[in-house]
Amino acid sequence: MKKITTQSFLKMKKNNEKITMLTAYDYSTAKLIDEAGIESILVGDSLGMTILGYDDTLKVTVEDILHHTKAVKRGTKNAFVIADMPFLSYHISIEETIRNAGRFIQEGGAQAVKLEGGSEISDKIEALINAQIPVCGHLGLTPQSVNMMGGFKVQGKSEEAAKKMIDDALLLQELGVFAIVLECVPAKLATIVSEKLDIPTIGIGAGNGCDGQVLVIQDMLGMYSDFTPKFVKKYATLNVDIENATKDFIKEVKDMSFPEEKHTFKIDEEVLSKLY
Ligand code: KIV
Repeated sequence: MKKITTQSFLKMKKNNEKITMLTAYDYSTAKLIDEAGIESILVGDSLGMTILGYDDTLKVTVEDILHHTKAVKRGTKNAFVIADMPFLSYHISIEETIRNAGRFIQEGGAQAVKLEGGSEISDKIEALINAQIPVCGHLGLTPQSVNMMGGFKVQGKSEEAAKKMIDDALLLQELGVFAIVLECVPAKLATIVSEKLDIPTIGIGAGNGCDGQVLVIQDMLGMYSDFTPKFVKKYATLNVDIENATKDFIKEVKDMSFPEEKHTFKIDEEVLSKLY
């Protein structure tokens, strides 16, 4: 597979080719999904919930995302790696926004950053793009605003909210973002947004009319059971595999059927005789 760039995203949109994105947070998972041909990897702040066990994404820090981006990058050859900017890393000032995003690119090796929000953060997005940092937008359910939204809810259901989403999407495109994640948006609204844009939309809980799809890897592999949103499809049941493998390991250690001869190392008999 060819190395994916921001231009590939635009080309795929033009050619009506759906774009695939998964989250990953570590080297070995990134390597597996990169080798399987995934086009883009998001080091999402969802790691706060799936990896760190928080209730939401608000406690995730720049250092957390940086640490995991470095690991993902080491496992990735072709996929386009996007680092998610965590809560408060792009809200305080333009200077801090550029410094934090710059670290994800310079130290983490990400090719782009993702920010949640529309017109409220347009100055930050503009500054990042002027600093030559590619930006992926994120509209609809923006989990960092969970306290303002009053929970993890479908967004854009009223006429006013739907119109704002369309306006925000057009604004982000004008500012120069290369793609927009649409999360928990009614499918028909997401289709309208996608049709109005020249840049691709990547949906999560936003239906088939988006130009691509993203899922949180722990959700789609069946590893995260605290909460499963309606839009998740489980492509594997690793929870069952992990539980069974762990039970087998415990049993075999207890009854001494593991380790077997083939798992052990030998020592020279002569050396051994001197040890008794
Ligand atoms: O943090 C994340 O994983 C995300 C996806 C849900 C798009 O933002």
